Amino acid sequence: MTQTDPLYHLSPVWSHLTTFQPVRGEGIFLYDANGKRLMDFTSGIGVTNTGHAHPRVAAAVQAQVAKLIHGQINIVIAPSAIELSHLLNDITPPEIDCFFLSNSGAEATEGAVKLARHATKRPNVIVFQGSFHGRTAQTMAMTTSKTIYRAGFQPLPGGIFVTPFPYAYRLGMDEEGATDYALDQLHWLLKAQTAPEETAAIVIEPVLGEGGYVPAPDRFLRELRDLCREHGILLVFDEIQTGFGRTGKMFALEYSGVTPDILIMAKGLGSGVPISAVGASRALMEKWAIGAHGGTYGGNALAAAAGAATIRVLRDEKLPENAARQGDRLLDGLKSLQAEFPIIGDVRGRGLMVGAEFTRNGQPDKAAAKAVQQGCLERDLLLLTCGTYDNVIRWIPPLVVTPLQIDEAVQIFAEALGDVK
Ligand SMILES: Cc1ncc(COP(=O)(O)O)c(C=O)c1O
Repeated sequence: MTQTDPLYHLSPVWSHLTTFQPVRGEGIFLYDANGKRLMDFTSGIGVTNTGHAHPRVAAAVQAQVAKLIHGQINIVIAPSAIELSHLLNDITPPEIDCFFLSNSGAEATEGAVKLARHATKRPNVIVFQGSFHGRTAQTMAMTTSKTIYRAGFQPLPGGIFVTPFPYAYRLGMDEEGATDYALDQLHWLLKAQTAPEETAAIVIEPVLGEGGYVPAPDRFLRELRDLCREHGILLVFDEIQTGFGRTGKMFALEYSGVTPDILIMAKGLGSGVPISAVGASRALMEKWAIGAHGGTYGGNALAAAAGAATIRVLRDEKLPENAARQGDRLLDGLKSLQAEFPIIGDVRGRGLMVGAEFTRNGQPDKAAAKAVQQGCLERDLLLLTCGTYDNVIRWIPPLVVTPLQIDEAVQIFAEALGDVK
């Protein structure tokens, strides 16, 4: 690339699905300066749950920015941060009543691990095969979805142990079999590599995200809850991608009824303004020595105002409920296509967090997934892939999506599939 290229001064480390340059977004659509429109079924990687530039979120951010942008929480306390903590308290299980605010998913995950280690005085953390928790040193060590996230950066911080996720389709098992297998492997790990009394936390995404859009069976999560309680291990749910209505409930934990000890949130919380949160009981948070964790921007007035407005919109417009309805419609549409196109090996998901896995002769077929993704892009539909083999197309539209828009996207997908065979 030459220096005259407008992208020259942006780091080439970012991969780009497109070089489309939106100047405006509305609902599920992005528009460039020439008025070209893309249908966004990525939500900026699961962020714009309320739709692009939702008028109420935009108004709240505009009102806040004109009054106070930064009220640093160690020095003063922005009223919007207090308001947000109350709203988070309203939408999370009763046991989770205290919140630490920060900026990104990785930062919140690091915070959760720091809290778990500090509170238990134990060193080790268990994560699941295929997990994605971030790109900082600590969270890279916890991320096992693809080697690209770790290659060239190892050795990474120690004390992280990896156990299989109950990924039934990949394991070639039914859900019950996969649950039993994953539990057996976890018990083995606790006997062979990290004793329970050395284990501070088990961290799980209730729907595996970057690792392939695989919901963890409810029984698996309930068994994890019991096991953690028995051994004094803290159960941590990473709901960074599954939170804020994405799966058809405000949080995915509502499906299993399991309350984790620590809940990690980000993405959908700010509708695009960077913000994340660690939730736990007040008693657990009090185990953190004052000053043991912090940050310049966490709880700043602007991001907190965006978070508060987002939660109000999600609740008032019943967006988790819409996600459940449109998710069912999407699953039905994709399952009918699966019957027609055997290259789709599996369709699964919860709410508007749906994956279609491409396989040929039982093996992951990345080329087909990428070709279909490209075919959709040529028809102005943005879709992302995921999975260790990059052979899963993931569907994460904004939760304001309508039935007609779901049907249109499925129709475009069908046309792109028809070109690939
Ligand atoms: C489940 C999960 N955890 C953590 C992260 C990291 O969040 P961030 O990119 O905001 O650091 C992501 C991002 O994709 C995620 O999906």
